[in-house]
Amino acid sequence: MRKPFIAGNWKMNLNHNEALSFIKDLSLRFNNKNGITIAVCPPFTSIRSVALAIEDEKFKSKDFNIKIGAQNMYFEKSGAFTGEISADMLNTLGVEYVIIGHSERRVIFKEDDELINKKIKAALSNGLKPIFCVGESLETREKGNAVEFTLNQVRAGLDLISPDEMAQITIAYEPIWAIGTGKTATPEDAQQMCNSIRSKIEALYEKNVAENTVIQYGGSVKPSNISEIMKMPDIDGALVGGASIKTDDFLALINY
Ligand code: 13P
Repeated sequence: MRKPFIAGNWKMNLNHNEALSFIKDLSLRFNNKNGITIAVCPPFTSIRSVALAIEDEKFKSKDFNIKIGAQNMYFEKSGAFTGEISADMLNTLGVEYVIIGHSERRVIFKEDDELINKKIKAALSNGLKPIFCVGESLETREKGNAVEFTLNQVRAGLDLISPDEMAQITIAYEPIWAIGTGKTATPEDAQQMCNSIRSKIEALYEKNVAENTVIQYGGSVKPSNISEIMKMPDIDGALVGGASIKTDDFLALINY
């Protein structure tokens, strides 16, 4: 059985003080009636304080079980890589998840499939669980190549990843044209792609691995569309940007 998983990708939003207020506000009104897995992925600068604030609140209420993710990392262990953060640095901060291959990293920072594959391997070997993002541009979709393009990203990103390691990986299907635009893929379109991704995992590994892989949808997920999305059989959760940094919206999403 795959457990629903909703993660908030804060992107470059919420400074240290705002991050702490967000967690405080969330804890005061927290409810997780569906018992799903929840993660927040703050910017590096507030990971430590968010982790400590969550620990503090969890001490008061065991239900406040929120995992921490990072938004990026570099694959090298250490050394002269100015501005980068290693998997080990994240792990020792209590980070459990790391988003890898987000389209904003691919498009703005020119990350390619080979680099993303190296990052996934480095994350896994340091005990982090990758949230591996894939998804096509509007141009690719309009050309009718969305499935082929996305499955190619899946294959390249998972190169030489073992079936056991696959159990640690969440895949996030995020069509670029739906990110931050207010346009959501229809639940049916998102389902179709997530189903194709699951079939691809089956082809690369085996049925059992595919059936256990958690696949999220991301792209303008909000309280008004989450329940339709979560009804889809191959969509197990959401990776949420804009709506994850407003406590009301995030709480509504968790309790879809
Ligand atoms: P929005 O929810 O703001 O569209 O962002 C989606 C996303 O990129 C999550 O990683």
